[in-house]
Amino acid sequence: MDLLEAVRGCTFDDFLLAPQRGVVLRRDPRAIDLRTLFSRHLPLSRPLVSANMDTITRAAMAIVLAEEGGLGVIDRGYRSGDIQPQVQEVAAVKRTQHGIISDPHTIGPSQTIGEAIRKMRATRVGSLAVVDDRRRLAGLLTERDVRFVGVDLTVADRMTPRERLVVHVGPIALPDAAQLMAREKVKKLPLVDADGGLAGLVTARDLIQHQRHPFATRDGRGRLRVGAAIGAAGDYLERAAEAIRAGADVLVIDIAHGHSAVMERAIEAVRKRFGEVELVAGNVATGEGAAFLADRGVDAVKVGIGPGGGCATRLTTSFGIPQVEALVQCRLAVGDRVPLIADGGVKRDGSIAQALLFGADTVMLGSALAGTEETPGEIVMKPLLMGDAQKVVQVPFKVFRGMASIGAIRDRLDLEEAEPQELEAFGAEGIEVSVPARGSVRGVIADMLKHLCSSISYGGAESLADLRQRFWNAPDRYLVKLTPASRAESFQR
Ligand code: XMP
Repeated sequence: MDLLEAVRGCTFDDFLLAPQRGVVLRRDPRAIDLRTLFSRHLPLSRPLVSANMDTITRAAMAIVLAEEGGLGVIDRGYRSGDIQPQVQEVAAVKRTQHGIISDPHTIGPSQTIGEAIRKMRATRVGSLAVVDDRRRLAGLLTERDVRFVGVDLTVADRMTPRERLVVHVGPIALPDAAQLMAREKVKKLPLVDADGGLAGLVTARDLIQHQRHPFATRDGRGRLRVGAAIGAAGDYLERAAEAIRAGADVLVIDIAHGHSAVMERAIEAVRKRFGEVELVAGNVATGEGAAFLADRGVDAVKVGIGPGGGCATRLTTSFGIPQVEALVQCRLAVGDRVPLIADGGVKRDGSIAQALLFGADTVMLGSALAGTEETPGEIVMKPLLMGDAQKVVQVPFKVFRGMASIGAIRDRLDLEEAEPQELEAFGAEGIEVSVPARGSVRGVIADMLKHLCSSISYGGAESLADLRQRFWNAPDRYLVKLTPASRAESFQR
């Protein structure tokens, strides 16, 4: 079967997938392997990514996505030159959890308790390693030690001295640290080198987080991973430098038309300045566009021109490729050279499995996560007429908007300084809608993962990778092209 011909002009709701003989015993996300790659050097346990949109992904969303095994990409929806707000979101994600803290915050034994309290507040950590002037561990000072005591006392007066601490000499693996701490019943384990120099700190709080989120996306230091969108013009190199400094694990050059001279120049400049930094680029929707980016050495390609829920590109320009065809084109063009991110157009959970089968390695979600607690923005109450009862009730809503909507652009640009053409050029390509406010995104993600596991079961596979392989080996066994009547039977409820 010629897969590309079969999907020409088609998107998710043009297909069903034919059920195969099932082999999994339980449709359980804890038991079924859903591992994938976000980008060439960034593996994920779950194939879900939150979109770099200013009404979707700030630290709160990125933290949950990473804890649940996916990834969040912090948007760059701030005014040009206003880099710190984005960097703070990146830093907030990196700060929430650690494995072994390699550079714990420290204080000297002769400093005052007042200074210690100020340091704890400024760094938002509850324990300071006390080190002498040669950085050898002298003790540990925790919040409990500084509570209700005079601020003029010295740190040495209140700390637990080294000889009363459980301390590990030399390197240690996290599970061994956990065992040692359980055995010794301590909440903190300072690490020192052979000369007694401070080498790290392990906290029970971090270990608990590791146990609670076994699929979490973490870096080599046990911190949650996070991406940062940087754009391709204006302050993008400065933004990239600051994001990297704050610990961003991957940069995303996010422009509407990624198969372009602007993109080419941006990739070159980022590579020249930041070398091997993990770099994603997009968006494109054709095989040629994907190959163009892969040839320039990016680590993942973001696919999707116009399928997005907040997107008006196709309405205003008539350009775009239906998302299933776009994914198949891009996958055929790049083979397994580079992972693909299916960005936009997922309106029901079933489309996630489709995007992954038709060529994507991960799925980027905007509107599907809109309105959840972790999205930025205020809740507004709006009156809603309940049809049958003829009653008006107040319902909580949140705003979801395209990054090229007038609202998003107005917030981003200094209108007085903006060139009129600039506004016009962007202005027409995004829309703004109110969506009902709902609970935590964790529940949404849990449902998506359960449904994906069910798709794997129906597809006769034992893992996500297995399902994708089976599909590409024999797409004709799976593809069911719908008629208007069978589409209505499938999706109209
Ligand atoms: P969903 O369907 O998940 O799509 O909401 C999210 C993706 O939509 C894209 N996006 C836009 N596309 N104009 C566009 O043409 C816009 O204003 C806009 N805002 C977001 C983006 O790729 C996002 O990840």
